[in-house]
Amino acid sequence: MKGIVLAGGTGSRLFPLTKVTNKHLLPIGKYPMIVHPVHKLTAAGISDILIVTGIEHMGDVVNLLGSGKDYNCRFTYKVQDEAGGIAQALGLAEDFAHKESICVILGDNIFENPITEFVKKFDQQSEGAKLLIKEVPDPHRYGVPELEDGQILSIEEKPQTPKSSYCVTGIYMYDEHIFEVIPSLKPSIRGELEITDVNNYYIQQNKLSYDILEGWWTDAGTFTSYRLANELMATQEFS
Ligand code: DAU
Repeated sequence: MKGIVLAGGTGSRLFPLTKVTNKHLLPIGKYPMIVHPVHKLTAAGISDILIVTGIEHMGDVVNLLGSGKDYNCRFTYKVQDEAGGIAQALGLAEDFAHKESICVILGDNIFENPITEFVKKFDQQSEGAKLLIKEVPDPHRYGVPELEDGQILSIEEKPQTPKSSYCVTGIYMYDEHIFEVIPSLKPSIRGELEITDVNNYYIQQNKLSYDILEGWWTDAGTFTSYRLANELMATQEFS
């Protein structure tokens, strides 16, 4: 399986912290934000990793991460010209994936536990997609799954009235068919190609599995969640 870290977008909710740098280069605990998802992928045995980010700060991202030799992995880099959404950023990964399955982590997702067991499970799942979900106090900020009898019936992006208290975390696993789905997507009202539309496609095909992520999880894209991520990671060191 190959790994992908999505680190594009505008970081507008953290402005002016993001006025002269990319959100994913801001510190979380002892490391720049982007190092956290990279570490989760390598700890799960994934060593071929694509980094997608905008053109403005690509140079800084490459300066930080380099070839990957300091992280026990190999990095490939791809520019997302405009912040057209998570699914658009993912669409840039087709050549890199080269028909292998992929494990995607959003660059602003910070969490406690390893993902190794889920990566192994998805390796055994012959096709489709796998999501990791998490109970949160504020599901309306996220993609929210409607759950019934151990299945996800549908996912709504930032619903006013969430159908569960769970969110879809930014940790996704897909088979090669994702690259046939993305070109069929239409921009949402926020003008983006939504990852939730991709996930709903897999639900319609009856090919979506999920697991519950244990341990703490947060995004770091707002001032409140950014501060929380820093508190949670304050003393953590990667070996
Ligand atoms: O954190 C989990 C949530 O992430 C999910 O529950 C939602 O379903 C999903 O849409 C997403 O919601 P956000 O509104 O928080 O996503 P945001 O626009 O903040 O983007 C999250 C990361 O995705 C960001 O750190 C970098 C990457 N990204 C985003 C956009 C819009 C890109 O690489 N390119 C982009 O164009």
